[in-house]
Amino acid sequence: MDIDIIPIPDAELKPLFDNPEELGFGRVFTDRMFTMEYTPARGWHAATIRKYEPLCLDPATLVFHYGQEIFEGMKAFASPGGQAVFFRPEDNVRRFNHSARRMCMPELDEQLMLDGLFRLVSIEGRWIPQKRGSALYIRPTMIAAEVGLGVRPATNYLYFVILSPVGPYFKEGFRPVRLCACDKYVRAVEGGVGEAKTGGNYAASLLAKQDAKEKGYNEVLWLDARERRYVEEVGAMNIFFVIDGVVCTPELSGAILQGITRKSVLQLAEHLGYPVAERRIAIDELVAGIMSGRVSEAFGAGTAASIAPVGEIGYKEKDYTINMTEAGPISRRLYEALQAIQFGEAPDPFGWTHKIDLH
Ligand SMILES: Cc1ncc(COP(=O)(O)O)c(C=O)c1O
Repeated sequence: MDIDIIPIPDAELKPLFDNPEELGFGRVFTDRMFTMEYTPARGWHAATIRKYEPLCLDPATLVFHYGQEIFEGMKAFASPGGQAVFFRPEDNVRRFNHSARRMCMPELDEQLMLDGLFRLVSIEGRWIPQKRGSALYIRPTMIAAEVGLGVRPATNYLYFVILSPVGPYFKEGFRPVRLCACDKYVRAVEGGVGEAKTGGNYAASLLAKQDAKEKGYNEVLWLDARERRYVEEVGAMNIFFVIDGVVCTPELSGAILQGITRKSVLQLAEHLGYPVAERRIAIDELVAGIMSGRVSEAFGAGTAASIAPVGEIGYKEKDYTINMTEAGPISRRLYEALQAIQFGEAPDPFGWTHKIDLH
């Protein structure tokens, strides 16, 4: 399918950000977006790159009422050679279609989705922040676009991609975060939609996150819905622990998002010679292990931070300190190794990166 590119007059282009350090996350958007429509008669059609602007949607559009929507989150980095580096983009595309199937939405042709992403980022190349640690965040999204009320899968859909230059996650160094293990609310349940990247999962997490923040924690550490015993993941990251020298993460249960960073960390850790395990990890095992010193490190893994060390976990009104609230050596090594691959500074023995030339 051809992509129709609608030119924007130079006078309408936005001024570029001044300091990538001050960008934060998701506050600045680029000049253009990608859009494409779906109808049962035509399938996916009208692939267009056009000016970023508000969407005009009828108040009765199904997405507003029943939340049939999915999205992805990925980054393009500036390489030293002046190209844009994508990190495992095929995995995001595959996960997008996985989410689409779960939410009764039409899948996208994987190559078409990739071509659209590469084309948009190539045209918007000037927006990729050059400073190490910053990136161009890419948000592909699909919404139910049919107008009408009634719970059913929509007939019509809108797919769009927006881009946002983002600053470094760690502005003041590789600082550990504090997590609160939540036994009051749950994020997702086996058989539910936890494995799909759909907005409702995030809406369901807000109250617990608000409570955790009020108590001084950065994020929620989710436990399984059935027993409130097994650790699942963090707000927007998968979770890892170093237990007896083994890099462990909860096994996928259907309720956990299948993180691309998670998968990469498992491969990278093994490559660097650390034993790894995917298994059920009970919160009581963790608490006992932290107290005995068997749990030597904890870290989150996700696109936003890549690796975020965890210094403290609160559970049942008590705080448990890991590695004296310092980032541990394995977390640090994985972080450095992952960042070097993502920024195109180190060889990529796994073939994870995809470089594109800028327009
Ligand atoms: C709930 C949740 N878990 C885990 C992750 C980490 O996934 P990834 O490494 O693909 O960014 C994310 C972020 O996308 C997330 O939103």
